[in-house]
Amino acid sequence: MRAKFITLEGIEGSGKTTSIKSINNLLEQKKIRYINTREPGASSMGNELREILLNPNTNISSEVELLLMLADRKDHVEKTILPNLLNDTWVISDRFMDSSIAYQGGGRQLDLSMINSLATYLNLPTPDSTLLFDLPVEIALERTKKRGKLDRFEKEEIEFHNRVRDAYLELANDNPDRIKVIDGTQNLEQVQAKVIENINQLF
Ligand code: TYD
Repeated sequence: MRAKFITLEGIEGSGKTTSIKSINNLLEQKKIRYINTREPGASSMGNELREILLNPNTNISSEVELLLMLADRKDHVEKTILPNLLNDTWVISDRFMDSSIAYQGGGRQLDLSMINSLATYLNLPTPDSTLLFDLPVEIALERTKKRGKLDRFEKEEIEFHNRVRDAYLELANDNPDRIKVIDGTQNLEQVQAKVIENINQLF
């Protein structure tokens, strides 16, 4: 079986990071080789970009923000995602292209056709499966506040996060075969059961 590319998406505090552990456990049980990775910030250059992008003191336009996210992504694809997939290793990425559509398209209200043209130009791989963790913004933001210091995105007003959420749901609606929506308001066991059910469908 060809190695699969799985991405996790959602607004902050939606529970996606916890779910990575469940996916890892399942793949280990099945003796499948995998890596965990993330955006922004999978490589050393990516980490520098991440610093800039998440720092609340960074003052950049939405266009520059988009281009930095895409620079991070192209490097991630070239250095990590494609080499691993070609080496029969599954790739589990915490965020990928859908994040740019949701945050820079939905949240920052940049032109979606421009974002999609850039993505086409960059020739990015399409994930085999994307899990979208969805829940009301108010609940998600309560969770992120408990984690402590807020980053540049977490500090955005509630309308920004609602636009991100809506853009994600629209993406899921347009790509029902690839994107599976997981109700993040369920308890941890229910969320993890859904995650496993979806990943099992890839076998
Ligand atoms: P991170 O700490 O990874 O957030 P989380 O733990 O919620 O996944 O920070 C990544 C932030 O960057 C997050 O707020 C979403 C944002 N982002 C974009 O705006 N566009 C993108 O293309 C990507 C990959 C992330």
